[in-house]
Amino acid sequence: MGILDGRVAVITGAGRGIGREHALLFAREGAAVVVNDLGGSNTGDGSDSGPAHEVVAEIVAAGGRAVANTANIAEWNGAASVIRSALDEFGRLDVLVNNAGILRDAFIAGMTESQWDAVIAVHLKGHFSMLRHAAQYWKDQSKAGEQPTAAVINTASGSGVTLPNAGQANYGAAKAAIAALTLIAAEELERYGVRVNAIAPIARTRLTLATPGMGALMAEPEDGEPDLFAPANIAPLVAYLASEKCPLTGRVYAVQGGAISLLKGWHDIATIETDTVWDVDDIAQRLPS
Ligand SMILES: NC(=O)c1ccc[n+]([C@@H]2O[C@H](COP(=O)([O-])OP(=O)(O)OC[C@H]3O[C@@H](n4cnc5c(N)ncnc54)[C@H](O)[C@@H]3O)[C@@H](O)[C@H]2O)c1
Repeated sequence: MGILDGRVAVITGAGRGIGREHALLFAREGAAVVVNDLGGSNTGDGSDSGPAHEVVAEIVAAGGRAVANTANIAEWNGAASVIRSALDEFGRLDVLVNNAGILRDAFIAGMTESQWDAVIAVHLKGHFSMLRHAAQYWKDQSKAGEQPTAAVINTASGSGVTLPNAGQANYGAAKAAIAALTLIAAEELERYGVRVNAIAPIARTRLTLATPGMGALMAEPEDGEPDLFAPANIAPLVAYLASEKCPLTGRVYAVQGGAISLLKGWHDIATIETDTVWDVDDIAQRLPS
């Protein structure tokens, strides 16, 4: 018995890195998986149908169920096609894992419009587009009297929620917005039987190996030591969040090395008040630093 027996899951960016490991574990745990991957470079240039099909072949060879989808989830219709793959191939949808991602790092003063647009498109619009099409399906199911027990797992990042990272204005802004989107979606979709959570992972993948300073933090372990920064070490949390028995919703978890931490966002830490309208000098004197 697997924790995901009978569930149908869509995983974006599942041809490589963290998403690939989600797909392999989900299939081992009994889910039928739509392996979506456009197959481009770190920066999102180009495409290659190979990675998605290779992961599907690996799952099928191990006796699991999977189908490849190579659409660009940054495009509205591409995202719709991924949800359609699940319905056409497996007849239902229970889990959406939004994971696809790219990087186009640059300092703000030199960032180009295309560096900004591409990163916002893949991460923020990609998350929303997938969520939108999946939510429509789950809403229709609910209205038809077949209340789903569905789950969405989004992918935020420490860059955006815990650690402002110079050079990643586009990426950090998208990832912070994904954390906010997660909380709003959890509120909205509960009525249709959908839980929505997010993770902020850290793992050794082509994205982090290309980021200055990150590779050294995630060195391969000595012989016999557990590989805590392997991308496979992220998937168990996501499989649990995807399972029917998980009650959690509206949470954002950091998962890195041997730690899983519940994160909490913006909140008041100091307040000044007035009985009359605000005065600039008054604010200048009293505003907490
Ligand atoms: N690796 C880390 O430490 C880390 C840290 C924080 C957040 N993340 C996030 O985790 C997710 C996975 O990253 P990873 O490190 O495994 O990177 P990765 O490059 O190994 O995998 C990302 C995959 O997404 C695919 N992809 C990119 N754009 C796509 C699109 N438009 N449509 C469909 N597929 C697309 C790529 O082809 C690639 O196979 C990303 O959202 C990333 O931002 C990773």
